[in-house]
Amino acid sequence: MVKAYRARILSFDAQAEPSRSARLDEDGLLVVGANAQGRQVVQMVGDYNLLADEFKARHPDVTVQHLPDRIIAPGFVDTHVHYPQTDVIGSPAEGLLPWLDSYTFPEEKRFVAGDYAAQAAAFFIAELLRNGVTTALTFATSHVASVDALFTEAQKNNLRLITGKCLQDRNCPDGVRDETEQSLIDTELLMHKWHDVDRLGYAFTPRFAPSCSDAQLRGLGDLAAKYPDVWIQSHVAENVEEITWALSLFPQARSYLQVYDDFGLMRKRSVYAHCIHLDAVDRALMKARGAAAAVCPTSNLFLGSGYFDYRASDEAGMQYALASDVGGGTSFSPFHTMLAAYYVGRATVKTALFQGGQPKLGMSLSPQNLWWQHTAGAAKALGLEGVVGNLSVGCEADFLILNPAATPLLARRTARAESLDELLFAMIVLGDDRLIEKTVISQAD
Ligand code: GUN
Ligand code: ZN
Repeated sequence: MVKAYRARILSFDAQAEPSRSARLDEDGLLVVGANAQGRQVVQMVGDYNLLADEFKARHPDVTVQHLPDRIIAPGFVDTHVHYPQTDVIGSPAEGLLPWLDSYTFPEEKRFVAGDYAAQAAAFFIAELLRNGVTTALTFATSHVASVDALFTEAQKNNLRLITGKCLQDRNCPDGVRDETEQSLIDTELLMHKWHDVDRLGYAFTPRFAPSCSDAQLRGLGDLAAKYPDVWIQSHVAENVEEITWALSLFPQARSYLQVYDDFGLMRKRSVYAHCIHLDAVDRALMKARGAAAAVCPTSNLFLGSGYFDYRASDEAGMQYALASDVGGGTSFSPFHTMLAAYYVGRATVKTALFQGGQPKLGMSLSPQNLWWQHTAGAAKALGLEGVVGNLSVGCEADFLILNPAATPLLARRTARAESLDELLFAMIVLGDDRLIEKTVISQAD
């Protein structure tokens, strides 16, 4: 069924530099309808007055929904989140490793039970949608039941969702630790069951190198070579103790990141969370392999892991995009994540001046760039450019109706905005789930 909306419409120019990529049609038209496969996609988008005649000729019977005070924007893309950690948000710990031991593993043990996993999956997906997230690459637990539960719920909601069984055959407790051979068998079976079914995708998911044996990583590397369109997700270079530990377990590797490359786990559609403590050789490797970093600023600030280096990543030409990393991350809201990313950019001031060198100023990441990193840029990092994360013709029709006057302060501040950057920044700084009036998911007609 064709539907048409007249509102302010935000979209991104895929060719433009991220900080100048956003476009706002002040009086825009968005028309969505079924493509040849029966999936709702964007059919027309742009200035209402330029498109109105063509629209009326093509669809004389379709009524346009007029929302003059609203902004229609692409649904957000979360490139790294843990659905079993919803109830771990805000758990205090010294750092990553004690946080995993004290809170995360005990909670993840519960997902052996299908009914526990099912209720957690239902809450998680509702929470994504409430926050305007319409595509997610998410961890499950090591239990097959946790993967089935999340795919089932995502399918019910028509969501574009990528997940996979977490693999971890050592250095983690009974109840979450899996067994090498069986973990690889289960992974391949689950992949065949769910990958490319409706809007679902599978991700090979080694938790992180310290929790995977050589045999497990080797087996995954073989699967990755056999199924090149399946995603790969893991963690790397997040925390200093974690890195020291990883290097002691893989003494032959030049760096922690190199471990994954040695096992054939770096390629297009591989997404590595954090990538904080990389060096220039690692960043060049990320670029050469077409891998992407999932940048998790609320998590990195909360767990005291460090700051993602935007400048060095740009210099290396490495791909990256934003992620909530719930439950190390503190919020499902992309607005909170974008604001935290802005703070992280700011925080990379180096005090070289006091050591006799040149000061390196913190960056002021532009609002358009931040928003791009959570929509079109995130889709690109996942290899889903032109599929989700934007409102260009042919994109799947996942979009948000934003109310920029959702709170008294938002209303006052957004009314004062004199440019697109000012408007986007007011929403980034002041926004949360209240801004999302409605999340619309592309339906199969
Ligand atoms: N490294 C290994 N597992 C995890 C996890 O669950 N969260 C984070 N933030 N880092 C990890
Ligand atoms: Zn994570």
